Amino acid sequence: MIQLSNVSKHYDNLTALRDINFSVEKGEMLFITGPSGSGKTTLLKLIYLAERPDEGTINVGDWELNTIKESNIPLLRRNIGFIFQDFRLLNNKNVFENVALALRIRGVDEKGLKVRVFDALKEVNLRHKSDSYPLALSGGEQQRVVIARATVSDPTIILADEPTGNVDPDTAAGIIRMFKDINAKGTTILIATHNRDLFMGSGRRVLKLDMGNLVGEAAG
Ligand SMILES: Nc1ncnc2c1ncn2[C@@H]1O[C@H](COP(=O)(O)OP(=O)(O)O)[C@@H](O)[C@H]1O
Ligand SMILES: [Mg+2]
Repeated sequence: MIQLSNVSKHYDNLTALRDINFSVEKGEMLFITGPSGSGKTTLLKLIYLAERPDEGTINVGDWELNTIKESNIPLLRRNIGFIFQDFRLLNNKNVFENVALALRIRGVDEKGLKVRVFDALKEVNLRHKSDSYPLALSGGEQQRVVIARATVSDPTIILADEPTGNVDPDTAAGIIRMFKDINAKGTTILIATHNRDLFMGSGRRVLKLDMGNLVGEAAG
């Protein structure tokens, strides 16, 4: 589903990623870990084509990202739910509208849209908060809205960057349980985190980055 071959990424004279090789099977859920600055976010951005590699090739599904046509990039991104580290919900829109936005852009009709948004909110136990505004929610609730926003369009891949960055350990465990449920339905999920509690005992593959190098792989 995702394959990186000899991928390097430089920022000026800093090497953010060096000669990275790995692949992710369809339906896998795996973790990318490593200290701050080790290249986790950069790696996810390359897969989403928010950044381009300086060397190497990246395949996502049937696409080869160095040669993908401009016109196919929106299509690629539609298949990917990206949960950004600094999740920005629109504070002037309620929870329903924040989740609905991606579907509105795609012209989904109002009736189908309602069903899908409420389904996504139900999955993250926030159906009852659909009329609330982001600033009236706790950090954990906001993070769950972000997950609903990423899943509402049924992406084949979810990329989650520090998805439990701003929440307490219990909420973090709940969020990981949600990812497992989503993964059990077939979605491929990559989670970047420096928090080992998230993957210890999970039995999932864990890739370890250090200063831009892929230094190991273990079972969590
Ligand atoms: N847009 C950028 N411009 C310059 N340097 C960057 C940029 N993005 C990331 N970096 C650098 O690349 C390295 C890897 O960053 P990042 O991928 O954000 O690491 P992580 O997510 O593991 O904390 C860091 O040294 C960071 O400072
Ligand atoms: Mg990061």
